[in-house]
Amino acid sequence: MAKLEVNVDHVATLRQARLGREPDPVTAAALAELAGAHGIIVHLREDRRHIQDRDLRLLRQTVKTRLNLEMAATEEMLRIASEVKPDLVTLVPEKRQELTTEGGLDVAGQKDFLREYLQRLKAAGLTVSLFVDADSTQLNAAKEVGAAWVELHTGTYAEAESEAEAQRLFDQLLDAARHARSLGLRVKCGHGLNYTNILPFRGRPEFEEFSIGHSIISRAVLVGMERAVREMLALITP
Ligand code: PXP
Repeated sequence: MAKLEVNVDHVATLRQARLGREPDPVTAAALAELAGAHGIIVHLREDRRHIQDRDLRLLRQTVKTRLNLEMAATEEMLRIASEVKPDLVTLVPEKRQELTTEGGLDVAGQKDFLREYLQRLKAAGLTVSLFVDADSTQLNAAKEVGAAWVELHTGTYAEAESEAEAQRLFDQLLDAARHARSLGLRVKCGHGLNYTNILPFRGRPEFEEFSIGHSIISRAVLVGMERAVREMLALITP
């Protein structure tokens, strides 16, 4: 059965809009687990625009499934990951100005750096996944530098402007997943997946796990709206 890791970054985005205490991504993670999520993911960004160090530390103490820490390959993050010890570290490229992660990591272009960086993560007892495009050169490089997992970047597929384009990009993801598995890599996919574009992935054993955030948090806001308004109305009605 395919597994679902829920990314709770955007619960923190909402909290940071007021620099307040709610909604708390730690509570959201607990509820996601109660609903059956197989894991929780957070991206601790260099600029701390959503998830904060406090969230990560509390999540480490409270997540009962698996905690996947998405991060850039920097010295600061290496230190944090080594201390917090998430169940999985997912390395992603990170640019300060981007709205969200814009593409896969160029593993092939920085093999020496990543091989050494992964060695240091592994020496701290950590398992590593690399977020990559559906490209055999990048997958071969991921294997060479010592990754256990790859996460295939589904953002381009998610943004396809026609069905034919979506089908072509889906086939590319499928080929990439098969290639990764033939190398002995485990395969997740994520970015931009929603309640519609996930459907072709269903029943495809090539994709072991999905990492989904924005669409789940967006739906949670809407499906919770009616109840939230009723509860406030009940409070102001004598
Ligand atoms: N996987 C990676 C590597 C990501 O960077 C993100 C976004 O933080 C996701 C998955 C989740 O993407 P989305 O929020 O679009 O579902």
